[in-house]
Amino acid sequence: MDVTVVGSGSWGSAFSRLLQRRGHRVQVLTMTTAEADELNRRHENPHFLPGVALPPEVRFVAMDEAELGASELVVYAVPTQAVRAVARWVGPRRAPGSLQLSLAKGVELGTLERPSQAIREETGDSAAVLSGPNHAEEVARDMPSATVVASADDEVAARLQAAIMCETFRVYTNSDVLGVEFCGAAKNPIAVAVGMSDGLGFGDNSRAALITRSLAEVTRLGLAMGGRFETFAGLAGIGDLIATCTSRHSRNRRAGELLAQGVSPADLEATVGQVVEGVPTARALHDLAARLGLELPVTEQVYAVLEGHSTAAETVQRLMGREAKREHQ
Ligand SMILES: NC(=O)c1ccc[n+]([C@@H]2O[C@H](COP(=O)([O-])OP(=O)(O)OC[C@H]3O[C@@H](n4cnc5c(N)ncnc54)[C@H](O)[C@@H]3O)[C@@H](O)[C@H]2O)c1
Repeated sequence: MDVTVVGSGSWGSAFSRLLQRRGHRVQVLTMTTAEADELNRRHENPHFLPGVALPPEVRFVAMDEAELGASELVVYAVPTQAVRAVARWVGPRRAPGSLQLSLAKGVELGTLERPSQAIREETGDSAAVLSGPNHAEEVARDMPSATVVASADDEVAARLQAAIMCETFRVYTNSDVLGVEFCGAAKNPIAVAVGMSDGLGFGDNSRAALITRSLAEVTRLGLAMGGRFETFAGLAGIGDLIATCTSRHSRNRRAGELLAQGVSPADLEATVGQVVEGVPTARALHDLAARLGLELPVTEQVYAVLEGHSTAAETVQRLMGREAKREHQ
């Protein structure tokens, strides 16, 4: 298959490597010619994925110079807030009937839409989504991982499963696009909350309580939007939540630690050095919950810290001081 991956960051680089090893012809689109030249020369992405050799067959091309006409699959590996602009650019250039796959995990600010919705609006065609416990740093080192590809069209999901799955990357199909995509978005603010707990010096009990109660709130919101319960109990749901909330690779968890140490929300992304999807997504979920009239206790506390309304330490008192409840409503 001829594949174009838009986005040459951590996940774009790791995913391209995976696709090339699976036998596909892969071009990765960068924002500048200088970046493409450097990556083609080094066969390594020292900023986003240091220490991983990228196959020389993976070609990096600047968006200005790229052609998409031969690509049977276009993969979106950019931050959520950039997906719409990229899809607008891809729309008139892609081959009719080519497949689209979004790897982005977030909710668009303002529209409160999922990445696949933005892609459909801008290209006039649907996009499948891929989400699961998949840190680029581990997938790129061929550590066994599993993921979910979701499409409303079972045949498309099966084609993508066959195209991507290999001995180190196990792919399950799912038709619940909303649920899979929403899980990937909602886990990031939760990881920020867990990072704050870790940064404040709390332990395993606190982390486990946060993860479990957060799963309840993510599931509540996801079901209200039309997702399926099993999705939240699967790889894209609890699976990704566990990985993101416990991993040393998670920049969202790291962002939470930094907030607990007093780093200002405005400086987070510069300090982490890469996109921290949990920041815009916490804001988008705050707006979405308000629109649907739902309570998201943990996400709301992350939002309050990001907006400068409270400190990490104050959020603990707020969460622990909530009224007594039944575990299941
Ligand atoms: N890193 C991971 O382990 C991982 C795993 C699963 C999903 N994701 C998701 O994949 C998406 C990308 O994450 P990442 O970790 O690769 O981010 P990153 O910060 O490492 O890289 C983002 C890349 O997108 C490029 N980019 C930004 N705006 C662009 C635009 N308008 N046009 C073209 N390129 C643009 C940047 O130049 C950069 O190369 C995010 O939504 C993230 O949540 C990441």
